[in-house]
Amino acid sequence: MNINFQNKVVWVTGASRGIGRAIALAFAESGAIVIASARSEENLKKLSEIASGNIHTMALDVTNEAAITEKLACIIAQFKKVDILVNAAGITRDKLIMRMSNDDWDSVLETNLKSAFLLSRELSRPMMKARSGTIILISSVIGITGNAGQANYAASKAGIIALTKSLAKELAPRNIRVNCIAPGFIETDMTAGLSEEIKEKIVSGIALNRTGTADDLTGAVRFLASDYAGYITGQTLIIDGGMVY
Ligand SMILES: NC(=O)c1ccc[n+]([C@@H]2O[C@H](COP(=O)([O-])OP(=O)(O)OC[C@H]3O[C@@H](n4cnc5c(N)ncnc54)[C@H](OP(=O)(O)O)[C@@H]3O)[C@@H](O)[C@H]2O)c1
Repeated sequence: MNINFQNKVVWVTGASRGIGRAIALAFAESGAIVIASARSEENLKKLSEIASGNIHTMALDVTNEAAITEKLACIIAQFKKVDILVNAAGITRDKLIMRMSNDDWDSVLETNLKSAFLLSRELSRPMMKARSGTIILISSVIGITGNAGQANYAASKAGIIALTKSLAKELAPRNIRVNCIAPGFIETDMTAGLSEEIKEKIVSGIALNRTGTADDLTGAVRFLASDYAGYITGQTLIIDGGMVY
C-alpha cells in the first residue's frame, strides 16, 4: 500500500519527542506538509535538522487556549488549511490515589484530554468550511484497562475514546473523520523511567513478546489519516502487540 500525502497539511502536536516525533517524520516522508509543535524549541530544532521532508516547527503549549487560537490563525494564513490533526502531546503524573494531588489530576487531564477538545474545536471550524478533514487522537490501552497508580492518566485516555466517538458522530455530516489509536507499551521518554523488572513483567503479557517502538505506530496512523480509511470513523485502534483482547 502506497500512501501519499502530497499537498496535505498535517499538524502533529507533541512532535518534539517520542511518538509524535515519529509520526511527524513519517508524514513528511510520505509527502505531507507537516507542522510539528511542542513546547521545547530546542528539540523541535533538532527535528527540523534531521527531517528530509517538508517540516515546519512551532512552539506551542497545548494547555494554552489563546496560543492554540493564535497558532492556528498563523497556520491558516500560511498554508490555507489543515487536512489532518494528530494530537500526540501527553504527560503522566503517576501516583496512588491517596497521594495524587489536584495538580497531578488537573495537569494530566488538561494536557491529555482538554487539549484534544480545544484543538478539535478550533480545527473543526476550518475543516467544516472545507467539508473535509481527519482528526486522530492518541488514547492508550490504559484508557481501556485502567491501571493502579494511573487514575488521572487512565481517565484522560478513556475520555479520549469517548471524545473520539462523539466527535465522529457530530462531524461526519461535514465529511470529517475522527479516530484514535490506543498504543500499548511504547519505548519513549514516557516509559523510560520504569525498572527492568516492571518492563519484563509487562513484556510477559504481550503476545508478540516485545515492547513497541514509536515507528510501530506510524503505519496505522497514516492509514487512518488516508483515503484508504475513508469509511472508518469513531474507532479506537489498539496497537499493543497483543496485550488487550
Ligand atoms: N509511550 C507509551 O507507551 C504510550 C502508550 C500509549 C499512549 N501514549 C501516548 O502517546 C502520546 C505521546 O507519548 P510519548 O510516549 O511519545 O511521550 P514523550 O516521549 O514523553 O513525548 C511527549 C510529547 O508531548 C509533548 N508535550 C507534553 N506536554 C505538552 C504540552 N503541554 N504542550 C505541548 N506539547 C507537550 C512533549 O514535548 P515538550 O516537552 O517539548 O512539550 C513531547 O513531544 C501521549 O499522549 C501518550 O499518553 C504513549
